[in-house]
Amino acid sequence: MVGTTESHEPHVVALCGSLRDGSRTKIALESVLEAARENGATTELVDLRSYELPSLNAVEPEPSDADHLRATIADADSVALGTPNYHGSYTGALKNALDYCRREEFAETTVGLLEVAGGEFPGSAIAHLRTVSRTLHAWPLPTEVAVPNSRTTITDDGIEDDAVADRVRRLGHDLVAYADVSSYPETVESGTTGAGSGADD
Ligand SMILES: Cc1cc2nc3c(=O)[nH]c(=O)nc-3n(C[C@H](O)[C@H](O)[C@H](O)COP(=O)(O)O)c2cc1C
Repeated sequence: MVGTTESHEPHVVALCGSLRDGSRTKIALESVLEAARENGATTELVDLRSYELPSLNAVEPEPSDADHLRATIADADSVALGTPNYHGSYTGALKNALDYCRREEFAETTVGLLEVAGGEFPGSAIAHLRTVSRTLHAWPLPTEVAVPNSRTTITDDGIEDDAVADRVRRLGHDLVAYADVSSYPETVESGTTGAGSGADD
């Protein structure tokens, strides 16, 4: 773990933007969380289908499980946001869930981004989520995963492409390694992170 100031077991929560049975995004997120557990974290996968979250009415909110969702995010040291690519962006289900959250829950939280797309050139959903994460004062990791050709890359047997599988596991590792990144000003000042640190991408 990089620059940890106190020892504790990080808690990593994954939020899945797909509501589909057999979601490939969910399969990838399960792999992220498995890697996080192997690196010492406790984990939870949020399946939005089990949350009552009507389309947000910001002025006259309806009864919902928003408090439960907010508490789950607030308890997390790191959050993985996983989404299918829908028309070049992330899903409405994930947007609605994030709209129920506030900076209070996300500030100082490390965020890892993962996109799963049917097509060959994913990435735009991640870019949009990076903007949202920043707006919520979270700390999006430079490590991100954009999975192309979802039908063949992720099957019921798991992630079929070794490079993608490695990348997904690295995201799980980094969500743990940088769980406390918001409290590391000393490592930034001493130049142990950032440009020239040897990262390969
Ligand atoms: C409404 C909708 C819009 C989609 N738009 C795109 C798209 O713009 N680009 C793309 O590559 N795939 C697109 N797809 C395909 C999904 O990204 C792909 O099937 C993905 O695996 C779905 O994730 P899931 O398995 O977690 O549900 C779209 C699928 C749906 C249902």
